[in-house]
Amino acid sequence: MFFYRSKAEESQEWMGAVSETSSVELRLKVFHLSKSYGYIPALSDVTLDVGAGEVRGLLGPNGSGKSTLMKIAVGLLRPTSGSVRVLGVDVEQDPMTVKKIVGYVPESPRLYEFLTATEYLDFIGDVRGLGLDEKKSRIKRFIDSLDLEGKEGYLISSYSQGMKQKVAIMGALLHKPRFLVLDEPLNGLDPKSARVVKELLHELAREGVSTIFSTHVLEIAQAICNRVTILQNGQIIAEGTPDELRQKAGLPGSGLEDVFMKLTGTSGVEEIVRALVR
Ligand SMILES: Nc1ncnc2c1ncn2[C@@H]1O[C@H](COP(=O)(O)OP(=O)(O)OP(=O)(O)O)[C@@H](O)[C@H]1O
Ligand SMILES: [Mg+2]
Repeated sequence: MFFYRSKAEESQEWMGAVSETSSVELRLKVFHLSKSYGYIPALSDVTLDVGAGEVRGLLGPNGSGKSTLMKIAVGLLRPTSGSVRVLGVDVEQDPMTVKKIVGYVPESPRLYEFLTATEYLDFIGDVRGLGLDEKKSRIKRFIDSLDLEGKEGYLISSYSQGMKQKVAIMGALLHKPRFLVLDEPLNGLDPKSARVVKELLHELAREGVSTIFSTHVLEIAQAICNRVTILQNGQIIAEGTPDELRQKAGLPGSGLEDVFMKLTGTSGVEEIVRALVR
């Protein structure tokens, strides 16, 4: 069904890439990780594992440390203490290897806006070392699947926010990474494209690709995560499957939004709204 696997050879090649590392059960291992920005603590003693084929949702209030954790996981920030291994590679010791094997969508993607989408993806494909035919066919499939056909020749600077976000997602997936770090990836995407990306993450998970992604949209987390980690003030306050979190919150049968509100101690929303409209 998907552009990731539309050709038999590509499928085989991809599965080969996955099985290369199948002995590495843990795709992400975060061990007693702490990070401060000067005096501002952003993460405090965070330990978590993401297994092969897992789609892990990272939830938490604004400023809880989600983006900081992701930036450290892709080698863009150095931790204050603790360690992170991606597919068995220590990020601090070998950030270049980690950057090669990871696909990353930052929370505010910066694209080369003076290029067209095709030129940008072509450039990313070259940087990632894709062959000419493979690069062209993958770019075409991404453009078609995310509804940018006909607009791929326009400058990115003329794109809407959602169109730019699509290009950022395509750029992150082009080289078939085995571990995806997606910081609020569905921001600004229309429902159809968001659905395509969600289904794609499922499909990739079935092939052993692991994903960690942050979102504030709890329906999305509920729909696509095997497990969810909730951060608050830089610490993990809850972790488990959506059902386990419901049990933990004492709210069986409830939506993840109620569970999130209870676990993060958010209450008094009605009073806040009353004060605001006064
Ligand atoms: N560059 C920076 N310099 C100083 N403090 C920072 C910096 N980046 C983040 N912080 C602080 O680190 C903490 C965690 O921020 P982070 O961006 O990781 O949160 P987040 O969970 O991703 O939030 P959001 O949901 O709003 O995206 C916050 O207190 C924030 O103010
Ligand atoms: Mg963030």
